[in-house]
Amino acid sequence: MDHDVERILFNEAEIRSGTDRVAAEVTAAYAGRPFTVVSVLKGSCIFASDLIRRIPIPLELAFVSASSYGDGTQSGRLALNFFPAESEIAGRNLLLVDDILDTGKTLSRLVGEMHKRGAAEVRSCVFLDKPARRAVPFRADFRVFEVDDLFVVGYGLDFAGHYRNLPYVGALKRECYERPRSAAR
Ligand code: XMP
Repeated sequence: MDHDVERILFNEAEIRSGTDRVAAEVTAAYAGRPFTVVSVLKGSCIFASDLIRRIPIPLELAFVSASSYGDGTQSGRLALNFFPAESEIAGRNLLLVDDILDTGKTLSRLVGEMHKRGAAEVRSCVFLDKPARRAVPFRADFRVFEVDDLFVVGYGLDFAGHYRNLPYVGALKRECYERPRSAAR
């Protein structure tokens, strides 16, 4: 897998210190207020699990699953696969945690859906933010790093289902996502 990475953008130490910084911001924002971290699967599973272990105040954890059917590197039609139970949303302060904020379509849709289901407050926290690609206006309340318009993998982020287990974030070599899908393994 390492051979498919053009260059490392954030190494393990940088990820750790960036996550520490944002965990401290989240802790200060929710001190004394109950809240639920809603991890957006699958991409945020690694970031969310590192983040919550650095937040030393009570929180609950829930999951939502969203996927977009594009051509592998472009966002396409968004499908919401499953939601937390209504009792985990209604009247709660929710912090949506996602791997990357790209066009903004996923998080803006999820914020709307959570409000529709009765959430008291919905905020968002992203590991990466790619502002150059925004198609709908959206600002995350918390973010670890900003990235340029590159296709990135690792630390939960995938291409065609692979590379999520890389411990760092890297830019994928163009030849890896431009070759036929069947060869991208
Ligand atoms: P939107 O466009 O809705 O996208 O903000 C959010 C989802 O798109 C995926 N995405 C990426 N995945 N490398 C990836 O591995 C990327 O550079 C990238 N850009 C967008 C991701 O699933 C994210 O949750």
